[in-house]
Amino acid sequence: MTNAFLPFTRPAIDADTIAAVADVLRSGWITSGPQVQAFEKALSERCGGRPVRAFNSGTATLEVALRLAKVGAGDTVITTPLTWVATANVILEVGATPVFVDVDPVTRNIDLDQLDAAITPQTKAVIPVDLAGLPVDRDRLYAIAGQHGIRVVEDAAQSFGAAWNGKPIGSTGDFVSFSFHANKNLTTGEGGALVLPDDVDPALCERLRLQGVKRFPDGSMDVDVLGGKSNLTDIAAAIGLGQLKRIDEFTARRRVLARRYFERLDPAPGLALPPADFANSNWHMFQPLLPTGTDRGRFVAAMKERGIGVGVHYPALHLFGLYRQYGFKAGDFPHAEDIGRRTVSLPLFPAMRDEDVDRVCAALTEVLTKVLA
Ligand SMILES: Cc1ncc(COP(=O)(O)O)c(C=O)c1O
Repeated sequence: MTNAFLPFTRPAIDADTIAAVADVLRSGWITSGPQVQAFEKALSERCGGRPVRAFNSGTATLEVALRLAKVGAGDTVITTPLTWVATANVILEVGATPVFVDVDPVTRNIDLDQLDAAITPQTKAVIPVDLAGLPVDRDRLYAIAGQHGIRVVEDAAQSFGAAWNGKPIGSTGDFVSFSFHANKNLTTGEGGALVLPDDVDPALCERLRLQGVKRFPDGSMDVDVLGGKSNLTDIAAAIGLGQLKRIDEFTARRRVLARRYFERLDPAPGLALPPADFANSNWHMFQPLLPTGTDRGRFVAAMKERGIGVGVHYPALHLFGLYRQYGFKAGDFPHAEDIGRRTVSLPLFPAMRDEDVDRVCAALTEVLTKVLA
């Protein structure tokens, strides 16, 4: 086993979950139905009883949140350039203009001083991202948003199971968007969920999720708003229900493994380690920054030769071709660019053994000090 390939992540799907999925497949009802309703109820219980609606992705949840916040043409939305590109793409999808501000070099999340300074009368919303599961400072974030009267769409795609000062992410705040993509701490294969604020009608959220259709008790229907098609299937919801039962166990195990990385990883070759947060973060990813100037492609290849998968999450997105077309360029956001060039995601998933961490640490030191030196 020791030399089996170690991926950077792997979902933990147990036999009970597989059996539950098989039951759904045999049931005769496989699209959105009772499993989705049960999943939404269970998610809501974890989110302080707030309304939660399930979707087929954490991109759809962000886009629908922006629509529910009435963000559109003529509005700007501020976000971080150091995130999965979905966070910014949805701003363009609704016809608004993305505005980026740099990240804090320590937390790697949006720099809240720069956010405060960037807000203008055109700013309608901010999308903060809890990168790697480390929550953005919610107290400061909501103080700024409240002062300027802007909406918050929390991109908590990576922070399900994390907390801010003891309160689960999702249990407070404005819109909160989760992703249940295969690599996330809680997965439904593909999927997402949106936690709704008090001023939003959950029925409107449901219509935006499914073609705008409104059904009446007499069996007739109307369409009064343009909705998309982003409902979750019962097959996926059954996976989510199985995952939800174990999410606290998963988070606890991730924290143990992350702690071991801090104990065993030798930062001597010039690594920069992530913030050692064991109170709030769900340790979605463990991401050291390689020494400046390291050829990351060669590093990833050398780790692979040693049977270890390494991910890259993420290059700064304002340097992608699409965003360059909007005028963004190298040098605009130096911290995001530096982190985006140096970041690597080391293996971290609940089924990993302690010895796997040791193996990764030994390989990393060997690669940096002998192979690439
Ligand atoms: C920060 C962030 N935002 C948004 C998304 C989009 O979620 P999905 O892939 O479920 O559409 C992801 C998923 O990778 C993400 O990591």
